[in-house]
This record gives sequence, C-alpha cells and structure tokens, in this order.
Amino acid sequence: MAGVADDAGFGFAIAKALAEAGASVCVGTWPPALTIFQNLLERGKMDESRRLSSGELLTFEKIYPLDAVFDTYDEIPEDVRASKRYKDVGDCSIGGLAGRLVQDFGDQPLDIVVHSLANGPEVKKALIDVSRSGYLAAMSASAYSLISMVSRFGAIMRPGGSFVSLTYLASERVIPGYGGGMSSAKAALESDTRTLAFEAGRRFGVRVNTISAGPLASRAASAIGIIEKMVEYVSENSPLTDKLRADEVGHVAAFLSSPLASGISGNTVYVDKGYHAMGMAVPPSGSTD
Ligand SMILES: NC(=O)c1ccc[n+]([C@@H]2O[C@H](COP(=O)([O-])OP(=O)(O)OC[C@H]3O[C@@H](n4cnc5c(N)ncnc54)[C@H](O)[C@@H]3O)[C@@H](O)[C@H]2O)c1
Repeated sequence: MAGVADDAGFGFAIAKALAEAGASVCVGTWPPALTIFQNLLERGKMDESRRLSSGELLTFEKIYPLDAVFDTYDEIPEDVRASKRYKDVGDCSIGGLAGRLVQDFGDQPLDIVVHSLANGPEVKKALIDVSRSGYLAAMSASAYSLISMVSRFGAIMRPGGSFVSLTYLASERVIPGYGGGMSSAKAALESDTRTLAFEAGRRFGVRVNTISAGPLASRAASAIGIIEKMVEYVSENSPLTDKLRADEVGHVAAFLSSPLASGISGNTVYVDKGYHAMGMAVPPSGSTD
C-alpha cells in the first residue's frame, strides 16, 4: 500500500478491505507525514477505524518511508536528505523500498500493490496558470510514480499479482477547481494503466487497473479547497444519491486485487455512485419524469 498516512483516505480503506480478505499489509508513507501517522497509531487515535469485523485491529506488518518522486537514493537531493523529516529514514525512494521488501521478506515478497497517492503543489491554480515546474511536479508525484512502481515492484511480484491505482473523472471531463496539472496527471495515469497492463502483463504476468473514484473529503482532497462542494454536487446529481464511502472503494480495490478479477487488466473502473454516466445536472425536484 503506497499512500497511507491517516484513516480518512482511500488508502486506509483499501488496506482495511485487503486485511479483511486475509492479506497482510505493509504501507509506504510519505516521510513528511510519517511521524504523525506513527503517533496516531501508537496513541490509539485510529483504533475505532482500525477495527475489523473479527474485532481485531488492523495492523500493518511494516511501515516504510516512501517518497514516490524519487526512484533511487542518488536522486534524493542533498538538502532533502539532510532535512528534518528525511534525515533518519534512509533510502525512501521507490527503488529503495523494493530493496527493503526483498531484504525483509525474500525474493518475491508481493502479490498486490496499491498506488493511492497524488500531489500537485499548484492544485489550486487553474491549468492555464500553472507553472512548468508545478505541472511537472504533479505529473511526477501522481503519474510517473505508477510507472516507476510497476517497473520496480513488478519485478519482485509473484505471477498473478495486481496493481491498482486511484484516478479521478477530471482526467476526461472538466472539473473546475481541480487544477495545477492534476487533471493532466490523471489522464496520464489512466493511459499509462492501459500500456502498463500490456507491458507488465507480458513481462511479469501481473495485472494493472485503476479505480476512478468519486469525490471524498480526504486530507489530500481538502487541499483542493472545494471538496465539500464537489461531494454535495455529485450526491445531488448521481444515479445513487448517498455519499460515496471510502470502504466502497476499498471493496472494489480488494476485488480487483484478488483472483476473482484475474481476467481484468488495463481497466478504469468507476466507483462513483454512477456519476460518470450523467450528461446533465438533475433538476432540483430530483424527478426522472
Ligand atoms: N479524495 C477524492 O475525492 C479522490 C477522488 C478520486 C481519486 N482520488 C485519488 O485517491 C488517491 C488517494 O488520495 P486520497 O484522496 O485518499 O487522500 P490521502 O490524503 O488519504 O492520500 C494521499 C496520500 O499521498 C501521499 N503522498 C503525497 N505525495 C507523496 C509522495 N511524493 N510520496 C509518497 N506519498 C505521497 C500523502 O502523504 C497521502 O498519504 C490519490 O491518487 C487521489 O488523487 C481521490
């Protein structure tokens, strides 16, 4: 699981669904969020949301530091390595994590990889106003990171393995406010899902899919600034009007990662209460007549 740092986002819900299905789950957490996440866990602040149907608490087999904008240790700039949140974590690159997993669990330690992370430093800026560096940073953290993970983790996965990532409708339809090149990054992520499904299928015998999730007020989404409005709008205008829950995405991710989905690869699967199918806002009465 790459991209868990609290219990509010899709990553946590997916980890929980995988654990319910019997998986042992390791997480990769962004170094700036790592200490806070470990403190939340240790102080029992997440115990309620960690509760599984068996009554036991969701536990992570290991929590690794992971910064998905770096592929190797050499790429981490000196000033970042020396900074407060990075100086004690060692090699937190994607390649570094692959190495640690092999060291800790043996040659083929993985069956399932979930990419549940994104970052766009200029997400509040319209695409037309985004800087080149802001755009490239969004692409690097939110799209290239999947390529790097499939390349590096695919090689240490058991055949039949599965990659799942998270995308958003802004890749294919205009969502005003979802800026900073994040819409571009999601379009790249979906396109790459198809090409990577082919390449990783042939090279490693693994599957690659992405879930296009409806809006959820996670920590990352709150950075967009209009998430509550998006959640409200989607609920008013979707076939199913109750608000999307993170566990609904968790269940689909668990399904896609399981042998039940052994015939599914290269797909973008909508988990959005049907919103993507709509072509017009619903009149205030909500009537279908
Ligand atoms: N929340 C929504 O409305 C929504 C809708 C559709 C898709 N998504 C996608 O779901 C995924 C998970 O996001 P979420 O909304 O659950 O929020 P979240 O805050 O739970 O998850 C985002 C995670 O990304 C991590 N991260 C950021 N930069 C990183 C980096 N360089 N290296 C490693 N980790 C990094 C953050 O620490 C955080 O844990 C993202 O891909 C997001 O775009 C979210």
